[in-house]
Order: sequence, then structure tokens, then C-alpha cells
Amino acid sequence: MEKKILIVSASLRVRSNSELLAEEILAGAREAGKEAELLSLKGKDLRFCVGCLACQKTGKCVLRDDMGKMLDRVREADVLVLVTPIYYYGLPGQLKTFLDRCNPLYGGENRFRDVYLVTVAADDAESAPHRAEESLGGWIECFPQARLAGSLFCGGVNGPGEILARPEYPARARALGASL
Ligand SMILES: Cc1cc2nc3c(=O)[nH]c(=O)nc-3n(C[C@H](O)[C@H](O)[C@H](O)COP(=O)(O)O)c2cc1C
Repeated sequence: MEKKILIVSASLRVRSNSELLAEEILAGAREAGKEAELLSLKGKDLRFCVGCLACQKTGKCVLRDDMGKMLDRVREADVLVLVTPIYYYGLPGQLKTFLDRCNPLYGGENRFRDVYLVTVAADDAESAPHRAEESLGGWIECFPQARLAGSLFCGGVNGPGEILARPEYPARARALGASL
């Protein structure tokens, strides 16, 4: 059966660099004949996990917001590609919240295996995404069927849309999409 790829774009700003990368990954995947879709956290009603653990008994979250539908997309995916800006050398709060809100999946049978992390930061240092990768690594470790299958770091990019001035990054993102 054809693998389903879910690309999650975590930035909330207009002309976001990570969303431009996410679109390239989507285009690359579709050009290669893969089944892929893009899910943006922008404009979503996404509340913090309240830690009640009701989902561990019922499989459902007590919060009624946009996460219910987004979780269905995660449930159907074989491959997850998380595309995100670096905030304070870690994951931005909205992506961490999204990952926390995947808690109804914890301890269950899950389809997703390969997880990719694509990061954008103002800093060009190779170490800039390391803490974000480590944080995602902790999440992946809680889903034994999953692994960090790859990552792409796009450093030295700060202003909205600035990634377009570094064509090597969109090109790498498109190639990543084709390789998924
Ligand atoms: C709250 C905040 C924190 C940030 N922290 C960092 C940081 O720690 N290191 C860094 O290199 N860039 C940092 N940045 C810059 C963003 O990573 C950079 O602007 C990136 O291009 C944003 O991607 P986007 O357009 O997809 O939102 C920060 C930006 C914001 C808004």
C-alpha cells in the first residue's frame, strides 16, 4: 500500500520560511508520485494539554478544538515531516503543544514510522537545531515503532520569505520530499 506522508508546518507567521519549505517538500513528494498532504498549525485553535490523562482511558481528548481533526491526520500517516522555526534554540511552543496533544496516541498501535525534522533559524551554526532535535527525540522515544529518519537544517534565515534568497534550501526541501 502507498505510504501516506503528512507534512506539518509549525510557523504561524505570514510568508513563513518553514511554510515555504513545507510547500517544496509537498511538491517534491507529489512530483515523485507519493501521497502527501500539508497541515499548517497557522490559524488553528490548538490548546495546551491539561494533563488529565482521560485520553489514556477513552482514546479521546477532553478538549474540543482543532486538534481532534489534526490527530486523525496523524493517525492515518506513515511518515511525519515536521517543519518548524527554531525559537530560543528549541521547538516553538505551538509545535510542542501539537506533540503533547498527540497523547491520545501514546501506548497505542500507530502507523507512523519515519519522522523527519526540518528547521529554520536565524543562526547559521550547525548546532542551532540540536536542542529541538533532542526534544523531538524524546517524543519519538515514547512511540517505539517510530524513529528520526532524517533532518534538514536551514540556517542564516530570519525575515519572512528570506528563504527564497537561499535557493539551495528550497531545492534541498524538494529533494527531501522526493526521497520520502
Ligand atoms: C520568539 C522567537 C525566538 C527565536 N529564537 C531563535 C533562536 O533561538 N535562534 C535563532 O537562530 N533564531 C531564532 N529566531 C528566529 C527564527 O528562527 C527565524 O526568524 C526563522 O526564519 C523563522 O521561521 P518562520 O519564517 O518559518 O517562522 C526566533 C524567532 C522568534 C520569533
